[in-house]
Amino acid sequence: MFSKFRSLIFKIDPEVAHDLAIRSLKLNLTPNFFDENKNSSMFQTVLFSKKIDNPIGMAAGFDKNAEVYNSLFKLGFGFVEVGTVTPLQQYGNPKPRVFRLIEDQALINRLGFNNLGADNVGARIRSNLSKGLLGINIGPNKDSENRLNDYLIGLRKFKDTADYITINISSPNTENLRNFHDDAKFNELLKCIEAEKNKLKSNIPIVVKVSPDLLENQIEKISNSLLKHKVSAIIISNTTANNRQKLRDINKHQKGGLSGKPLEDISNKLISRFYRLLKNKVEIIGVGGVDSGESAYRKFLSGASFVQLYTGMVFQGPSVVRKIKRELKELLIVDGVKNYKEIIGQKLSN
Ligand SMILES: Cc1cc2nc3c(=O)[nH]c(=O)nc-3n(C[C@H](O)[C@H](O)[C@H](O)COP(=O)(O)O)c2cc1C
Repeated sequence: MFSKFRSLIFKIDPEVAHDLAIRSLKLNLTPNFFDENKNSSMFQTVLFSKKIDNPIGMAAGFDKNAEVYNSLFKLGFGFVEVGTVTPLQQYGNPKPRVFRLIEDQALINRLGFNNLGADNVGARIRSNLSKGLLGINIGPNKDSENRLNDYLIGLRKFKDTADYITINISSPNTENLRNFHDDAKFNELLKCIEAEKNKLKSNIPIVVKVSPDLLENQIEKISNSLLKHKVSAIIISNTTANNRQKLRDINKHQKGGLSGKPLEDISNKLISRFYRLLKNKVEIIGVGGVDSGESAYRKFLSGASFVQLYTGMVFQGPSVVRKIKRELKELLIVDGVKNYKEIIGQKLSN
């Protein structure tokens, strides 16, 4: 049904279309799909000590203000990450700031952490308890004088509402945010988060979301720091600020972060690099271009234990998780595999 509507939806400005999608999810206007693979033993898994139906999550950015996470669970997502949430409400960059690259099955966005702020989002979650595993992705305000402290504010606000907290250091749309990948800054950030957790006597799992545009020498350093500071998982990756050469769509030179199909191989390669260094010690959540069973399968082979998606939902519509599970099941049956976990890291990308 979505494929019939898609050309109409794609005539609307992408940010307006997204607002409409949020509204219809809020009003429960999306069809109640029958999911033949709900509770399938092939996909059941555990994330941060909680059993979940499947390893396919909604990536941060779709439900920035925690409005529709329970509707997303109904669509079949095994876990949902809301945010990025900053301590104070902020508007983000001037519009237009989201662009479809239809020919490339991609998006470019330069939203810049538009969100309602931690107090509003926290109140919303407390008044509508989550029916599934909920991550909250936190970041600093653009004009904050102490960005590191903003992460600590986020941690304090959400330590009791979230199942995990993602430290987002990788948006390309907040100037200099990616400096937190630098060794000294990264260690200082993780050290402060660890200390704050101890002070609060909190066991909340901490997840770090990284950029796909890392330099070779950063990968090992980041891995060592994650291990040293007992980070539970790494999300690989956010959108890319580079990689425009092979794109075809007229929007390819828009400033911002590129997501979707052109990001897929880039993130898979990075997942494999980190997997070699982190396997069985830090969970890897793979993101970038997941929109089918095959693309999820490649992420697992590359070393991810879980995947997330955003752009795939824009291009494939609300039945995307159901479709991925159906296709993935067929691939796993051919492999003679009983649970998808058996294939994790079995074919590392170069
Ligand atoms: C419009 C848009 C907004 C996004 N906002 C955020 C965000 O607020 N925080 C974040 O960590 N990632 C954000 N992302 C990045 C996604 O979570 C994801 O890492 C990236 O899009 C790659 O996955 P995909 O190819 O499945 O979209 C955003 C992506 C898009 C397309």
